[in-house]
Amino acid sequence: MKFETQCIHAGLDVENDTPAIVPPISPSTIYEIASDGDTDKGFLYSRLGNPNRLQLETLLAAIERGKACAAFASGLAASAALLQALDPGDEVIFPDDIYSGNRNLINGILKRWGLRPVFVRMSESGEAKNAITPKTKLIWIESPSNPMLRITDIRSICNIAREKGIRTVVDNTWPTPVNQLPLELGADFVIHSTTKYFGGHSDLLGGAVIAAENDAFFERIRYNQQLGGGVPSAFDCWMLNRSIRTLPCRMGVHNTNAEKVAGFLVNHPKIEKVLWPGIESHEGHAIAKEQMCGFGGMISFLLKESGESTQKAVSRAKLIKHATSLGGVESTWERRRATEGEASETPENLIRLSVGLEHADDIIEDIEQCLR
Ligand SMILES: Cc1ncc(COP(=O)(O)O)c(C=O)c1O
Repeated sequence: MKFETQCIHAGLDVENDTPAIVPPISPSTIYEIASDGDTDKGFLYSRLGNPNRLQLETLLAAIERGKACAAFASGLAASAALLQALDPGDEVIFPDDIYSGNRNLINGILKRWGLRPVFVRMSESGEAKNAITPKTKLIWIESPSNPMLRITDIRSICNIAREKGIRTVVDNTWPTPVNQLPLELGADFVIHSTTKYFGGHSDLLGGAVIAAENDAFFERIRYNQQLGGGVPSAFDCWMLNRSIRTLPCRMGVHNTNAEKVAGFLVNHPKIEKVLWPGIESHEGHAIAKEQMCGFGGMISFLLKESGESTQKAVSRAKLIKHATSLGGVESTWERRRATEGEASETPENLIRLSVGLEHADDIIEDIEQCLR
């Protein structure tokens, strides 16, 4: 079955015994236990599992080409559950430009728990290779990275890791499986903030880990999901199931709108640099072309201005919403450093734009008046 068809049909008949095409929302937190102590289909208590979550996990595993999936209440809950499936003392190699929330989770919480992080420039494959020690158990890839849009050669890092028996995970939140399929490039896990393009309408939080194999390590992630308790509500799972049905159509427009906006930005006299992997001059363009089938809806660009003037340009927008996060139908942007805070290494004149599904001409017109 082709990808677009899977997005619409996968999971629809899971735990749906009614003639309803769209499975109903199952808000019940508890399930009746039979007189012999048996639980119908294994449902007991909804933190452990419920029909809508199972439908979502089936859908996500199918479209990421995985064998198993665990859904969470946010992208960060998914990160924590994956990393705590390791043992305290294990080393993990992370990109030095990893999404700032993950960096704070690692440095602020998981280091105290015993995780040993090593940060390298992941887009230089050699740096990860050199950082491997006998204690390395996982390599984390984020490509394109947030917010610098650096491209990592996923296949190359996964090959290096596999030779040494090290697992790999790719944060596929930005590209989505429409544009990139990391498990087919050799990764062991894909991680998502489903808050972004999967949700697509800026109205829910969620996360997920999809595994290439339903093995003992994935069982640890499942255990962390059920006992750590960072699980999504039945309603949020139902909402995600609904919005993922249109993911390929939405991503198609995000991709083409971003191409038009990037084309406008590269020719603008007030712009110092445009970071979007679809541009031929982008450092990672050749690898991106190999491993992606679309370049996504996220663009970062640097103004030939101070941080203060960049902030002012952002606040002049009439159509584009000044907000953090990304992946919604509406265009949003922010001066990323202002959101990342003190520890941020993001250039102060960098604007991160999530190109929405409005007409591209309207988005461009708004940027034009902001840059005047
Ligand atoms: C690449 C990436 N990964 C993970 C996350 C975290 O997701 P959440 O906010 O759902 O916890 C984000 C959020 O912006 C992100 O951009």
